[in-house]
Amino acid sequence: MTLNNLNDDWWKQAVVYQIYPRSFKDANGDGLGDIPGITSKMRYLRELGIDAIWLSPFYPSDLADGGYDIIDYRNVDPRLGDMADFDAMVSQAHQEGIKVIVDIVPNHTADRHAWFLEALASGRGSAARDRYIFKEGSGPNGEFPPNDWQSLFGGPAWERVEDGQWYLHIFAKEQPDLNWNNPEVHEEFKKTLRFWSDHGTDGFRVDVAHGLAKKLDGASMKDLSRWTVHDSLSHDGTHPLWDRAQVHDIYREWRQVFNEYDPPRFAVGEAWVVPEHQYLYASPDELGQVFNFEFAIANWFSGDFRTAIRDGLQAAKSSGSTATWVMSNHDVPRHPSRYGLPQAPSKATHQLPKDWVLRDGSSYEENRELGSKRARAAILMEAALPGSVYIYQGEELGLFEVPDIPWDRLEDPTPFRTRGRYTEKGRDGCRVPLPWDSLDTPDPASWNPRFGSGASFGFSPAHDADGARSADPHLPQPLWYRDFSVDVEQRDETSMLSLYKACLSRRAELLTPAQDSSVTWLDEGDDVIAYTRDAAESSAYTTIASITNFGATAITLPEGDLILSSAQLDDRSQLPQDTSVWIGMR
Ligand code: GLC
Repeated sequence: MTLNNLNDDWWKQAVVYQIYPRSFKDANGDGLGDIPGITSKMRYLRELGIDAIWLSPFYPSDLADGGYDIIDYRNVDPRLGDMADFDAMVSQAHQEGIKVIVDIVPNHTADRHAWFLEALASGRGSAARDRYIFKEGSGPNGEFPPNDWQSLFGGPAWERVEDGQWYLHIFAKEQPDLNWNNPEVHEEFKKTLRFWSDHGTDGFRVDVAHGLAKKLDGASMKDLSRWTVHDSLSHDGTHPLWDRAQVHDIYREWRQVFNEYDPPRFAVGEAWVVPEHQYLYASPDELGQVFNFEFAIANWFSGDFRTAIRDGLQAAKSSGSTATWVMSNHDVPRHPSRYGLPQAPSKATHQLPKDWVLRDGSSYEENRELGSKRARAAILMEAALPGSVYIYQGEELGLFEVPDIPWDRLEDPTPFRTRGRYTEKGRDGCRVPLPWDSLDTPDPASWNPRFGSGASFGFSPAHDADGARSADPHLPQPLWYRDFSVDVEQRDETSMLSLYKACLSRRAELLTPAQDSSVTWLDEGDDVIAYTRDAAESSAYTTIASITNFGATAITLPEGDLILSSAQLDDRSQLPQDTSVWIGMR
């Protein structure tokens, strides 16, 4: 067990590994990752050197939105296991010194949730309907939506039910928004937080944390049309949906629940709000930590990263929390691909070249060698920073995005519903099941991305419990996954996996688990990000420097011991472009 994990404040400087359960590891051969699959890989996770796992939703769901449409908040999707499997997974994680964080989705339920079915059955004005946001339509017979809001996944944000009323869904129509002005909703979520805490869960990731405190009464729906659902970065508190002051009352209430436990349960909020507001969610009497997504939207420019680091550390300080760093997650294209595409000095993740995102028939290729090189440099830049590092499954293997999944195999709702449908592939390209075993490679002659071939790079076992051939992985894996399989990378000292392991173990050993949020900047010029941190007292060093060169001209490195390097250095004193080092100074 790492020292950090024995401390109640473990989460302030943690390395958290995000698991997208349906694509991590399939133990029973149905082509869908499951909870026993996670348990079976706990040793792998410990050897990687992480402090905690965060599981994206594994609850019963019809998968209208990758599991973020939840039918039952206090259960496991039967395709992924049961509560006994969950308990066994937590206990195995704890034995390996790994904390467990689960995802809480409070903005909306699934349309098959018992509450929503009851709301439909109970009719207008009923208590059951008041748990959601039902309104009368506009037009002479209420036949038009209450207003013109468009959902974040495309199409109207309102859906009409049989008796003529309309309900609000900011996301898919299978995700009706809850009414947080209803006390029953508050009680229900506190029950859910206690349920998972009682099952040994150490913390929570709060989905769409900035969206709960809606103000839709009073003004007519038509009047509210001057705002749009897409404008979550409105910051004066007047937006009827996003980032309203009242949302903080909810988290203060939740904090009381977290503090019923010893140690108090941890929480991190997903709040896409203006940077000056993010850290309100992170204050110690609320969630305690919040995601900073600046790395996930930064392009490969030193200026973008420098600003992201400065702002992130400053904001963490002002909230009394610690910073967070995220390069990839289940919602954005994998960063080695992003860094291998043409770069523009802006936050352009969502503006990737269209022909690349739609790789059906297009000729554009990302430069993988360059993308990989930069991703290697990026983890050394990130992992020496104070605060928590969030790693998305497969990132440690250096996986690229899979942008050419056939349209008829896609699962994400966004490609089919967004404006200008079929103009983007959506988020499945980073959710393809992980490659564990290169010996289980499909025969290239018979491989077809539409139908699979019986092999899954060890994602599924060869056979299910009845001895039948396992189902194909729920999303097709490309043939090039073979080279990124865990067994291949474990044998190769120069692999991304070996770099991540070395980096995380050196981080644990050399960097103080200090609660502070500062670095000392070294001035190496505009194209370089260079900072130092105090080294752990038990180490041989006083400070550790992390230095990344973005520029075309090599820079001269300071004296000291070369601890890690993202690429082989031909000359120990020179740091070439797109390369990072850690140097220990005595
Ligand atoms: C969050 C999740 C995303 C999901 C959305 C709706 O942004 O990260 O995957 O689609 O919430 O629940």
